[in-house]
Amino acid sequence: MKFFVDTGDIAEIKDLASTGLLDGVTTNPTLIAQSGKNFLKLIAEICEVVDGPVSAEVAATDYATMLKEGQKLAKIAKNVAVKVPLTPDGLKVCKALSDNGTQVNVTLCFSSAQAILAAKAGATFISPFVGRLDDVGQDGTQLIKDIVQIYKQYPNFKTEVLIASIRHPIHLVDAAKVGAHVATIPPKVIRQLYAHPLTDKGLAAFVADWAKTGQTILDAA
Ligand code: E4P
Repeated sequence: MKFFVDTGDIAEIKDLASTGLLDGVTTNPTLIAQSGKNFLKLIAEICEVVDGPVSAEVAATDYATMLKEGQKLAKIAKNVAVKVPLTPDGLKVCKALSDNGTQVNVTLCFSSAQAILAAKAGATFISPFVGRLDDVGQDGTQLIKDIVQIYKQYPNFKTEVLIASIRHPIHLVDAAKVGAHVATIPPKVIRQLYAHPLTDKGLAAFVADWAKTGQTILDAA
């Protein structure tokens, strides 16, 4: 399973890239606004830090402008994945860009029917939003299961299922159980993945017991 981080915070991206576990980055207009940075410069900076796909979202909603924006974003670096909304025009842009070899992330997916359309339009990634579905009382994880199952029926679908809008580690684990290809995870949730109280307790006991031996590994013969 690939891990992307869902942020426009370059310091967070650098820190998480140093773990060696980061396979890509996703941004969206909200995250760019929160960063306070120039969009194109920020995407270029992120692409220098991370080799994997870096999603940069178009701002327009009509086909012609979205296409031009997508082409411009794709020129920033070879690992830019242009993010387009799951609308008729967005999927037309997806088809045009992917036919020319540009990676495309189709965002704002809330149904299996939409995910089928994105795969047919040649999306590199489809982004179902689990957390936002849960927020309105629908089962976000069930949507992930359904899309993974549907895509498996059609080997000619090359689109990867990228779970987005992750709120907590269970969203990630449930998606991993059914074989979602990618998870885009907020930095805070990535850090939660490491945490378990028994790990902390066990480590504290080992450290204390090791001190009783009076030994050091590095000085030992
Ligand atoms: C994905 O690409 C989106 O940027 C993101 O996961 C949305 O998450 P949110 O629902 O927490 O805003």
